[in-house]
Amino acid sequence: MTEERSARSLEEKEMFFPPKEFSSNAVIQNSEIHELGQDRNEFWNEQGKRLDWFKSWDTILEWNYPFAKWYVGGKLNAAYNCLDRHLKGARRNKAALIFEGEQGDRRVFTYQDLLREVSQFANVLKSLEVEKGDRVTIYMPMIPETVIAMLACARIGAAHCVVFGGFSAEALKDRIQDSQSKVVVTTDGSYRRGNSIPLKANVDRALPSVTCINNCVENVIVVKRTGQPVDMIEGRDIWYHEAVENVSIVCPAEAMEADDMLFILYTSGTTGKPKGVVHTVGGYMVGVSTTHEWVFDLKEEDVYWCTADVGWITGHSYLVYGPLSNGATVVMYEGAPDYPEKDRYWKIVEKYRVTILYTAPTAIRTFMKWGESYPSGRDLSSLRLLGSVGEPINPEAWMWYYKHIGREQCPIVDTWWQTETGMIMMTPLPGITPLKPGSCTIPFPGVHIEIVDHAGDPVPKGKSGYLVVREPWPAMLKTVYGDDKRYEDTYWSQFKGLYFTGDEAKWDEDSYFWVTGRVDDVINVSGHRIGTAEVESALADHPFVAEAACVGRTHEVKGQAVFAFVSLKEGIAVNDELVDELKAHVVLKIGSLARPDDIFLSTELPKTRSGKIMRRLLKDIAEGREIGDTSTLADVGVINFLKENIDARR
Ligand code: PRX
Repeated sequence: MTEERSARSLEEKEMFFPPKEFSSNAVIQNSEIHELGQDRNEFWNEQGKRLDWFKSWDTILEWNYPFAKWYVGGKLNAAYNCLDRHLKGARRNKAALIFEGEQGDRRVFTYQDLLREVSQFANVLKSLEVEKGDRVTIYMPMIPETVIAMLACARIGAAHCVVFGGFSAEALKDRIQDSQSKVVVTTDGSYRRGNSIPLKANVDRALPSVTCINNCVENVIVVKRTGQPVDMIEGRDIWYHEAVENVSIVCPAEAMEADDMLFILYTSGTTGKPKGVVHTVGGYMVGVSTTHEWVFDLKEEDVYWCTADVGWITGHSYLVYGPLSNGATVVMYEGAPDYPEKDRYWKIVEKYRVTILYTAPTAIRTFMKWGESYPSGRDLSSLRLLGSVGEPINPEAWMWYYKHIGREQCPIVDTWWQTETGMIMMTPLPGITPLKPGSCTIPFPGVHIEIVDHAGDPVPKGKSGYLVVREPWPAMLKTVYGDDKRYEDTYWSQFKGLYFTGDEAKWDEDSYFWVTGRVDDVINVSGHRIGTAEVESALADHPFVAEAACVGRTHEVKGQAVFAFVSLKEGIAVNDELVDELKAHVVLKIGSLARPDDIFLSTELPKTRSGKIMRRLLKDIAEGREIGDTSTLADVGVINFLKENIDARR
């Protein structure tokens, strides 16, 4: 590739091929694999065999629209598949987890080590009367005990609800409340850029306002990580290191029905509070195990590093369940990419000879901004495959990643999927799929994705439309926790018979998919989903605020940023301190990931004659573009005022 070839000039037709050596050694070399996937049931039936089952399934799929049951009649355990079965062979003493702390500390767990720790903690949970079907909230940083706690839940059949450590006490409360968790596992604090963040204190703040319907939060288990002082409540709070002392290291894995719940993970949607997405044991495990092996071309000797936080679905599927079920060596890093220096990631790649790196476009754009001297100062020659997830990757970032991290030797797998899909749905298979920068290429075998118009009819090639899934897939969500109707309404009501992703996409002449982003009221900030309704209600909770409307605006590093328009109650003066106060209020209610980059205070918001806020116009203003059709506005003066004032600030 020549220096002068600008990424901007890349056209949809331009393809990148894997190095010959890569394709001839790839796990998947047969380009007919996608055709094999056409027979969906047969394909997934075959893939089911990659796991260890206590009892094989009778029926591959029961499809009672829109509720699917996969591997019906089968019994298995996710933790058993991630640990025990590897102990039978050569993987017994293989490194399962290589943990690098932000402070430079390191811990390595072999598969045998991990099984011991998981079994022991599973016994602790059992001693606290956590039973099959109970929920356990895990509010932890990126440390091995987080993975251990997840697998311990899976081992005894309790569902874990991991809450990202960056969420506030209030957001945590909502999730504990909704899941009615019996136990919360947390740490005293977590490290971030050398500071320590108080997680246990947030748990203490959250718990008093949780309304328990039945036996909820009887105990809090606290891992000592930072050593900062915490209040331990007698009879409720237990130190992890004390709890595991002298506990048996043997704990049989519970035989779960394939359709039993493995975990709940909360995610933002268009309306209301975050939804508890429910994933089951059988279909999910087959889905993540198959995709992890094929998409990442996993070989026995690989060192695989997924940088996602375990609090998000990427962490669940491709830091824990996918790689461990495949017996991989997984690198887990606790901290920030710029601590102590901006080359921390590249130091980690160099130190552990990482071969596969899976990260997000927002991180890649940040590295681009910092400049190539950081990666070029480290030996990245071990890398052979790169991955991207969470948001559309712009061709410029793709090219930078390809060139400066991958040395033009590593295929990039741009993987499209969602919390709800559980597994990667569209992706190149790196040995056989030619790449186009910015396109997630084609659906994974056995996955049926389409782009449709308003009426639900497929659009022709070259056109954009709504991204939908036509047929059930194994790792699909089972439901929204405790709310089947919301599951139906959210995903299956827009287009008859189709699962609606909330995304817009285009199909090109080569049948490649180009996902452009959300069409609903979800903002994707640094690859994290934030519901505009959530930020609006956080703002409206402030005593000075009359009304708030939020939109996403393009941001060169984060992809999108939150832009909030706020009208104040009568008599409240507009001032800059109030803007800061409102931003802090959002952080308090949700967490810093939802902090608006911009807040504009005004006396009124633009509304239609029937009183609906016109977000479409606010989006035009936030993006700094021409305002669209204003004919339905009650008072066009409001929008003109906003535009003039906001443009004048740019
Ligand atoms: O808009 C799509 C975007 O992220 C959304 C799903 O977010 P979440 O459930 O938080 O899961 C993120 C990690 C899987 C999607 O609806 N998205 C995810 N991956 C891509 C993407 N957009 C474009 N290209 C991708 N590769």
